[in-house]
Amino acid sequence: MSANSLRSLRLRKFLFAAILIFIFAIVAYWMVQENKPWIVPREYKSLKNPLAPSESTLNAARQIYGDECAQCHGNRGKGDGPEGRSHFPLPADLTDTKLLANVTDGEIFYQISEGRRPMPSFKRRLTEDQRWQLVLLVRSFSQLAAPVNTPAAPPKSAAEK
Ligand code: HEC
Repeated sequence: MSANSLRSLRLRKFLFAAILIFIFAIVAYWMVQENKPWIVPREYKSLKNPLAPSESTLNAARQIYGDECAQCHGNRGKGDGPEGRSHFPLPADLTDTKLLANVTDGEIFYQISEGRRPMPSFKRRLTEDQRWQLVLLVRSFSQLAAPVNTPAAPPKSAAEK
């Protein structure tokens, strides 16, 4: 092998390694970004839900949830919706009492309003009232003992008949 071709081989090896490192760095950066805690502005944290839990607000929320959220978060909030598995990070398990014990209503409201990739933002799609209804429903998923969560709404098709 001539000195020239040896040099270009080395150069190619070097470029190859450099590209690999570059791709690895991007993937690592992306994964760290995705796992960042969800920072909610302070003014949202202390917001109080203007709505009280009642069967009618929860039923309204179940309708919206079925249309907008269940495909990712699953019918009962377990995070096991049919579309959920194809997302990174995975949709949050909204029945997780530990997770939900650490967030205020205002934070849930903010998360629903703003979204975070891959979860879409709902502040234009849903009214404030609808988002607060969803906060009540999300709360009910992790409060299995609370009477508001039972009985579950009948499936839509059955209700329409
Ligand atoms: C495209 C899939 C998708 C849809 C649709 C979706 N979500 Fe999410 N949701 C996610 C993902 C993924 C996360 C985790 C995001 C993260 O941690 O960065 C999440 C997180 C959340 C959280 C935060 C839980 C926590 O404390 O960390 C709440 C609350 C939530 N979603 C409620 C909803 C509601 C209510 C709807 C419907 C209005 C909805 N989501 C629609 C995918 C989705």
